[in-house]
Amino acid sequence: MKNVRIGIVGLGTVGSGVVRILKEQQALIAQQTGLSFEIVKAIIANPDRERASYLKDVALGTDITQLLQDESIDIIVEVMGSVAAAKDLIEQALAAHKNVVTANKDLIAQYGQELAELAMANNVALRYEASVAGGIPILQILRTAYKADQVHTIAGILNGTTNFILTQMDEQGLTYDQALKAAKEKGFAESDPTNDVDGFDAAYKLAILTKMAFGLSVPQSAIDITGIRELAIDDVKAARAAGYELKLIGLSDLTDEGLRLAVAPMVVHENQPIAQIRNEHNAVLVKS
Ligand SMILES: NC(=O)c1ccc[n+]([C@@H]2O[C@H](COP(=O)([O-])OP(=O)(O)OC[C@H]3O[C@@H](n4cnc5c(N)ncnc54)[C@H](OP(=O)(O)O)[C@@H]3O)[C@@H](O)[C@H]2O)c1
Repeated sequence: MKNVRIGIVGLGTVGSGVVRILKEQQALIAQQTGLSFEIVKAIIANPDRERASYLKDVALGTDITQLLQDESIDIIVEVMGSVAAAKDLIEQALAAHKNVVTANKDLIAQYGQELAELAMANNVALRYEASVAGGIPILQILRTAYKADQVHTIAGILNGTTNFILTQMDEQGLTYDQALKAAKEKGFAESDPTNDVDGFDAAYKLAILTKMAFGLSVPQSAIDITGIRELAIDDVKAARAAGYELKLIGLSDLTDEGLRLAVAPMVVHENQPIAQIRNEHNAVLVKS
């Protein structure tokens, strides 16, 4: 059985999850793919940080060149976040003929095209399915199954933090501040939640979906972005009383005037499937 050797950069929420799943699902993955996957080394920032027990046998390092110079490594997984440093790392990895997997939506929304061209020039793959609605394999589907189809609309709940907050306001009657506090306690919101609650995270994901669905690269400035910070419990209640739910929706809609791009709180009729998506879960609706 071929053994695929992986170097991973970042061992936080996502990186440690990758290691855990590759371990726990080893037998299933081998059965499905005929391949075994081995994490050769993880590059991290703080070697003194306490790690979960299932990470104990992962070799750690702090120097990315250890991965780049190791010719036996097939894939580099970038899950450290940031834009400039991650871009630099991925460029070096692609130039070193390594396949790259990343979950970095900020980076892919801004430099995805450039990096995809670099990957192609070096005859290696750049994969970023986990950057948008990680549990929903939507990018691959748009890239392949929808290739000969005209997509008209993409509408989605693209940010779990804000959907959790809105669900808690709706179901538990919490104020925005109380619901945000609950999201932080559950680890769904960061200490500075700006990227999520002001809609920027969803906008990055919308830009990636738009590229896949319509073939258009859109800067964040082309997206009309409104977050959920200003929503009051009365707004949520009023929507509910009228038979609707308030959701933060990322919308890419082909109109007669061109593509309308927005991230904003929108009312969704309670019978619509997207209204049923509760808490931290995501959903993507494609009309074609
Ligand atoms: N969290 C999610 O639910 C989620 C979902 C989808 C996509 N993403 C994306 O996935 C990426 C990672 O997110 P995360 O939540 O896992 O982040 P995180 O928990 O903050 O983990 C970041 C990891 O990267 C390491 N790191 C940071 N800077 C580094 C550097 N310069 N060199 C080497 N290692 C460095 C950190 O090392 P230490 O451990 O030593 O500090 C840590 O292990 C981001 O691009 C994020 O947008 C996250």
